[in-house]
Parts: sequence; C-alpha cells; structure tokens
Amino acid sequence: MTTQRNGSAPVDGPIPHHVAIIMDGNGRWACDRDLPRHAGHREGMKAVRQAIEGAMETGVGILTLFAFSTENWQRPEEEIVALMRLLKLYAESEREELQEKGVEVRVLGDLARMDAETRASVEAIEEATQGGSRLRLNLMISYSGREEILRAVRLVAAEVARGSLDPEAVDARTLEKFLHTRGLPDPDLLIRTSGEFRLSNFMLWQLAYTEIHISPVLWPDFTRLDFFAAVRDYQRRERRFGRVTAG
Ligand code: FPP
Repeated sequence: MTTQRNGSAPVDGPIPHHVAIIMDGNGRWACDRDLPRHAGHREGMKAVRQAIEGAMETGVGILTLFAFSTENWQRPEEEIVALMRLLKLYAESEREELQEKGVEVRVLGDLARMDAETRASVEAIEEATQGGSRLRLNLMISYSGREEILRAVRLVAAEVARGSLDPEAVDARTLEKFLHTRGLPDPDLLIRTSGEFRLSNFMLWQLAYTEIHISPVLWPDFTRLDFFAAVRDYQRRERRFGRVTAG
C-alpha cells in the first residue's frame, strides 16, 4: 500500500488509460463525526470532483466510478433515497461544468430500478455531455459485476436461439459486446479506498488483469493527491498479463 502524496501529476512512467474506483468509506467517515451516513455520501461528492480533476491532470482517458451497487438497494430506505437525491443533485449541478470541460458522462447499470426523476436527470447529463473528448466518465449505478455477466449471457443466448449466432463462435469478444462497458478497454488501474481488500462484485469480467491500489483514505477525504499516489504506485508495477515478460 502506497501513501506517498505529491502535489504534481505523475509524468514519469506509463499513464493508465482507464482508471476505475471503488469509492468506499463514506459511512465510516460520517460515523467518526457522529453524523448521519448520508452526510458522508454528500461529502463524497467533493471527492468525486477531486478524482475527476486528478484524472484530467494525469491524462487518464476513462474514469469509472462505482457509485451504487445492486446490493445497495438492500440498504435502509432513507439511505437509498438520500443517495438517489445526491445523484440527481450531482447530475443537475455538475452538468454544465462537465460539458465545458469536455467530460462525457455515461451512467451504466440497471437504470430501470431508478426513480423517474433521478433517471431523467442522469439521461439529461448524458445527453448534454455527449461527445466530450477529454475524459469519459462512467458512473456505475445499480450495477453489479455478476448481474452484468448474467445479462450478457442472456443476450448471447437470445442471439443463439434466434439463429443469428453460432454457439461455437462465442468468444470473449462476443461477450464483451453485451457488457455495459462495450467498446471500452478494461481498466488498467483499480483504486479502492478505506483500506478494504475486496472487489465487492465490481467489474468482475473487466478487472481480470487490472492492477489494484488500495488506499487507506476514506472516500470523502480522497483528493487528487491520492489519485496521483495511486498512479505512481501503478507506474512501479510490471504488467505481464499472464506472460513471463511485461506486455
Ligand atoms: C460506499 O461507502 C459508498 C457508496 C455506497 C456511495 C458512493 C456515493 C458517493 C461517493 C456520492 C455521490 C456520487 C456521485 C457519483 C454523485 P459506504 O457507505 O459503504 O461506507 P462504509 O463502508 O464506511 O459504510
């Protein structure tokens, strides 16, 4: 685990093209301050801005944030409502700035479970930011890795049943066309905050060869300096993709 923090963006070494983040620790951050859990999520929104800034300063092309899992629907109703409100607020208040900065936002997951108002605001931010070419920002909402793979398998099976796909021809590239992340390269770097060493059902297919950086920082305290530290840690890794020498 690396905690070395440095004020400037990392330039010496490979820059990860795609960075994914499991934003963890909002509840603990709030609990440490005797605040309700939703106060931690609200503060976490500032850290989202920091991560975006860090990614843009570093030259990362794709940033994927795990904002709400399929399992999170089992949290107390009031926390779910607070999180959906926050998402709506985020989509409405950041829309213009993200558009100006050239950030293309996509919201990926089972959006049918979202309330109509939140869904309308995420669709509006997607539409307004479409074509942004400096950074692609994926917000994973109502998302789980297993659900995503199951959905892809169902869609592949439907094509086979229709006779438009030969089962013998199904390979990794076929399945990838049915993932929410279709067309995107796999993450090079996964950051998880709050010192937890788990994948929590996140991008199970796409993380096969991703480098993992665990940050001890609770998500609301995460800044662009922590982002830079994670990238520096990544730059020290030798990526072999199962081979003997670096790929
Ligand atoms: C995990 O912390 C975090 C979440 C379930 C929500 C993440 C949401 C945000 C960062 C806020 C807004 C985001 C966007 C994109 C608008 P936890 O509650 O599991 O923390 P704990 O493990 O300390 O309880």
